[in-house]
Amino acid sequence: MQLGKGMVSRAYLENGIVSKQYLTPFHKYSPRNIESHWKNEVKALKLLKGKNHFPQLISVDPANRIIYMSYCGDPLSKENLPKDWKKQCKEIEKTLCSLDIYPQDFIGKDANPNPPYNKNIHIKGGVIYLIDFGIWSAKHTSGFNTITDIIKQLA
Ligand SMILES: Nc1ncnc2c1ncn2[C@@H]1O[C@H](COP(=O)(O)OP(=O)(O)O)[C@@H](O)[C@H]1O
Ligand SMILES: [Mg+2]
Repeated sequence: MQLGKGMVSRAYLENGIVSKQYLTPFHKYSPRNIESHWKNEVKALKLLKGKNHFPQLISVDPANRIIYMSYCGDPLSKENLPKDWKKQCKEIEKTLCSLDIYPQDFIGKDANPNPPYNKNIHIKGGVIYLIDFGIWSAKHTSGFNTITDIIKQLA
């Protein structure tokens, strides 16, 4: 089943596992710089291994630019927003800060006015998951949207 069709990748769900394949060839799509998105995502998922609230890396197929990872449920909506979202957001921010991962791809409701507002925040079994680590910075920059900022707009 196809989950997503972005500018630089396709995501599929098969047998409970997500495969995200980056498009080829890399150079054709610059300046979007698919190769750097690919590298960023693999790096982040390696750092996030064993951490709650993030997809778990299963394996990487560099020859075909495929990332296999655990499935993180459905996009966040008003309906599936867990009651303890503030607590979960704090946990998420603590983990990201400790690893110096600042996702840059969490646009707010203003930029994305229709549900699910932000397709990079998912919910599975009442647990918030952040996905899509193609664009992130190792430095905290001004104007950075935290997960709390984003979800606040919905709650
Ligand atoms: N691990 C995952 N669990 C559940 N859904 C996922 C997962 N990875 C991707 N998806 C779905 O596929 C879509 C596209 O994947 P994403 O990593 O956000 O790539 P893109 O760079 O195209 O935005 C997401 O919006 C999400 O709905
Ligand atoms: Mg995305």
